[in-house]
Amino acid sequence: MKNKIVLTGGCGFIGSHTCVELQNAGYDVVIFDNLSNSEASVIDGIEKITGIRPAFYQIDCTDKGAVYQAFQQEGPIAGVVHFAASKAVGESVHKPILYYRNNLTSLMNMLEAAQDFHLKGFVFSSSCTVYGEPDSVPVDETAPIKPATSPYGNTKQIAEEIIQDYEHTGVDFNAIILRYFNPIGAHPSAEIGELPRGVPQNLLPYVCQAAMGIRKELSVFGDDYNTADGSCVRDYIDVIDLAKAHVCALNRMVEGKSAEKVEYYNLGTGHGVSVFELVNTFMEATGVKVPYKVVGRREGDIERIYGNPSHANEVLGWKAAVPLKETLANAWRWQEKLREKGVM
Ligand code: WQD
Repeated sequence: MKNKIVLTGGCGFIGSHTCVELQNAGYDVVIFDNLSNSEASVIDGIEKITGIRPAFYQIDCTDKGAVYQAFQQEGPIAGVVHFAASKAVGESVHKPILYYRNNLTSLMNMLEAAQDFHLKGFVFSSSCTVYGEPDSVPVDETAPIKPATSPYGNTKQIAEEIIQDYEHTGVDFNAIILRYFNPIGAHPSAEIGELPRGVPQNLLPYVCQAAMGIRKELSVFGDDYNTADGSCVRDYIDVIDLAKAHVCALNRMVEGKSAEKVEYYNLGTGHGVSVFELVNTFMEATGVKVPYKVVGRREGDIERIYGNPSHANEVLGWKAAVPLKETLANAWRWQEKLREKGVM
């Protein structure tokens, strides 16, 4: 019998790609999603790619009763990947209670469910945001956790502490915390991808919309940083590569191979890419021009961060493999598909 995995936030950007990779790896996937920042049609895209329709519950993970009812209905579950969370840094500054409630209540409900329903493993989506402005790059998992600069970032730090504290009580399941750098891209089939609502806040969705003429031009936030070309440097990781890391993490826990009750892994490429490099590579990959202008720095931006993924390479047997050009071409194909469908 296939092992069953619950994906909270499984209709979202990273969740949907992870669903595909888990199904490809032979897992049976059950999605919990309240569709607050996603569409149910994503499930059609997943089915088109894999030929398998995941089970779906439109529930909010802050609703413990609904979560427990779904667990009861589904029978034995091997693991959870907990993506469901509010993720807009700027919004979190204006709506901190919403962020603390959504992100932490849902986590606590899922952790208690993991214990009560005898799961083997719990994967949590964390972020490189926990490192703040790092003292040196590339950043490895032992780098100090810096004070959070937004309520969103704080929810990721607190969430990591909650998981640690809960594991210390001697619960029966293991946890793996995955710290993502900057996830970008789309499935090469263009059946699933990122669906930003309103004006995109992240770089690549904005680049795609500017290239398509939906936005007049990209604003490059600062060219006076202490970097090779003056723009900020990030570690852009392909969403399919990222999704595959979740399969490795679950395999490790389901097979009982964890060395620690809580393990931490950076998920990045190990390479820093500047804003200008990303824009130029996008134009090379697609042959499409990206109109842009340089404006002032964005408040709170970190000058340079990229991860050292050796720990994930060595222990999880995972390595980022998709070249940046291919990732950018996939994102553009998805953007074109959205236009064909009249979505944007
Ligand atoms: C990337 C670079 C911008 C938009 C975010 C989250 C963080 C974490 C990772 C999840 C920066 C520049 C952007 C634009 C630009 N996610 N930029 N013009 O800031 O690294 O972090 O993803 O936990 O919490 O905040 O990503 O895509 O917003 O920016 O010049 O219109 O692109 O200044 O250098 P960021 P981003």
